[in-house]
Amino acid sequence: MAISFNQEKQFFHLSNDSISYIIGIEKETFLCHRYFGKAIKNFTGNLDFPVTTGAFSVTPFPEDPHFSPHTRLLETSTNTSGDFRVPNYQIRNEAGKTVTDFRYHSYQIKKGKKPLSGLPSLRGNEEEGTTLEILLVDTIQNLHMTLVYSLYEKAPIITRHIIFENHGKNTIFLENAGSMMMDLPESDYELITLYGSHANEAHLSREKLRPGINRIESTRGTSSPQYQPFLGLSEKETTQFSGEITGFHFVYSGNFVAQVEKTQYQTSRVQIGIHPDTFDWRLLPNESFTTPEVVLNYSNKGFNGLSQNFHQIYQKHLAPESFKDTQRPILLNSWEGNYFDFTTDSLLKQIKKAADLGIELFVLDDGWFGKRNDDHSSLGDWFVNTDKLPGGLEKIAKAVHDQTMQFGIWFEPEMISRESDLHKKHPDWALHVTPYPSLESRSQLVLDLSRIEVQDYIIESLSKHLETGTIDYVKWDMNRHLSEVGNDQLEATRQKEISHRYVLGLYHILEVLTQRFPAVLFENCSSGGGRFDPGMMYYMPQTWTSDNTDALCRSQIQYGYSFLYPPIMMGAHVSDVPNHQVGRITPLNTRGYLAMSGNFGYENNLNQLSETDQTVIKEQIAFYKAHRKLFQFGHFYRLLDPTSTFATSWLFADENEVFVVYFHGLSQPSAETIFLKLHYLDENATYEDNKTKVVYSGSELNQIGLVVRGAREDFHTTTFHLKKL
Ligand code: GLA
Repeated sequence: MAISFNQEKQFFHLSNDSISYIIGIEKETFLCHRYFGKAIKNFTGNLDFPVTTGAFSVTPFPEDPHFSPHTRLLETSTNTSGDFRVPNYQIRNEAGKTVTDFRYHSYQIKKGKKPLSGLPSLRGNEEEGTTLEILLVDTIQNLHMTLVYSLYEKAPIITRHIIFENHGKNTIFLENAGSMMMDLPESDYELITLYGSHANEAHLSREKLRPGINRIESTRGTSSPQYQPFLGLSEKETTQFSGEITGFHFVYSGNFVAQVEKTQYQTSRVQIGIHPDTFDWRLLPNESFTTPEVVLNYSNKGFNGLSQNFHQIYQKHLAPESFKDTQRPILLNSWEGNYFDFTTDSLLKQIKKAADLGIELFVLDDGWFGKRNDDHSSLGDWFVNTDKLPGGLEKIAKAVHDQTMQFGIWFEPEMISRESDLHKKHPDWALHVTPYPSLESRSQLVLDLSRIEVQDYIIESLSKHLETGTIDYVKWDMNRHLSEVGNDQLEATRQKEISHRYVLGLYHILEVLTQRFPAVLFENCSSGGGRFDPGMMYYMPQTWTSDNTDALCRSQIQYGYSFLYPPIMMGAHVSDVPNHQVGRITPLNTRGYLAMSGNFGYENNLNQLSETDQTVIKEQIAFYKAHRKLFQFGHFYRLLDPTSTFATSWLFADENEVFVVYFHGLSQPSAETIFLKLHYLDENATYEDNKTKVVYSGSELNQIGLVVRGAREDFHTTTFHLKKL
């Protein structure tokens, strides 16, 4: 049994071949964290978990004054219960009182893993997982809190979420409804997070936990490019290749907080959930509230081990069923090569050229609808601009399909321009707080997705296009953050529900559209990686990683995201030089190999491409097609961290071949020869270098390494392609 309860010793043990998670019940009341990490083959329950007392501790047990919620390692808690650490929940009643007293009540163990109502979550059938539900009850107000844990049978992964139910007679308000909390008996950890900004996403931060609360968050309405909704706790010694790390990833696309409190008692508390600053949920009698899910991942094989676990679970259990095993097409996106400046003729020429080069999907980005010739107007008016595109989308789609390519278009469905027919008709559909002005960003306002009529409008206006059957791909963009989060519809006591209702509205729209059009490939985008999170990946199996297409910047951005997402989930395109975001000139083959290290495509204007570049691109595309399985479904491992000179390296490996990318970064004087240890080859196999035909043993490549000679060229890339013999 993957999940068991020891009646005598009062503990739950969730375990598979690689991990154990243990929860004890103390004083028949408190749910205490015992352990999460490498599998414990036989947990007897005989170990002592000493009670620390601190002055100022309060206790619900006067007969045992040493026992205080403040010094126990708990699975959930609030700060009105005598626990003064960062809370996981907070409930206010109609009288404005915030004291609650949840005590252990009962448990259930169930086969499989149920989807979360209205929220994205990891998928799992009856054979793939087991679920433990632990019910805590506040008998005074008749409130229920169910802590839900699902354990995957064959992965070091557990998911957690919480269900709050109001069985009382009065309304309550959830001021804070965290998804998980976990107290660890140690605090000497390093905290791993990913931070950034627009066009500069996913930089790795690794810092020793400092006393107090270490927190990342978003109150922007989306998960944001500022912080990935993820945190990891590693040992000091953990490297890419070895050592322990535990990762926590929030399956949610809105405001969040993820924090670790290092306490005065050398313990630490991890807490993750919807951001309480922008949340207050009214729960009527007999209503329930389900929090989003958190994915817990444990590895003792270093950062690469953690990434492998995430990559595999997300490919198998998060990506939409219809795309998880489907090869992705090589695309040409019109944005950087054309911006708003195109005509039917200029596009038709590029489509023809794209087909000659071997491109498989043509995407018409922004600028095809309403009166949209710059970014000041027309969002919301999702009808084709036939002045600009006589013959409409049909003519372009036909030209694309005639070349046996696929056709895709761009939408930014959550937005409304002041200059749009939609705004004339429904000025109140934008988020707004009367009488304050609604602030603009990129000349646009945000539609109020908490409203059903707005959700229906988006579903129907996109469906009209998708029903024609001529659109194979949609790029779903979202280019601003939320301000004036309010509306005139909801009562005063529900205004702070709108941020979460917005996300629920978005998920509803995506659920309907992806169910209605399961064959359409959706790509997630928010000015690049502004909402690159597991919640979005549940509906859309790939994300436009960053608006920054410079090779050097991309080597770092993709390096960062690869901690969590497999390359197939990260859109990566070759673009023109000098690069449009940073002005840098990098070699075309470097741009090619970095783009192949993600979900491969191009952003160039093919009408302006030189003959030489066309030849190189044709070769890149042919090469990628021949090895697409390796790039899209092989294992991806990082070999070098980007150093101060920006050099980095990674490899792709499957049962037949290995492809190594060494990106040299900036040239150095006396450039040394590097021995690049490959670490992940089969020790018992031999490998042949495709170029030189020299044969090496897997174990020598792992331990000694391939020789990379220093190049006298900035941004040079060296690659090795090895065949497993
Ligand atoms: C965002 C996207 C770009 C492009 C533009 C169009 O910035 O990230 O790729 O689609 O919008 O306006």
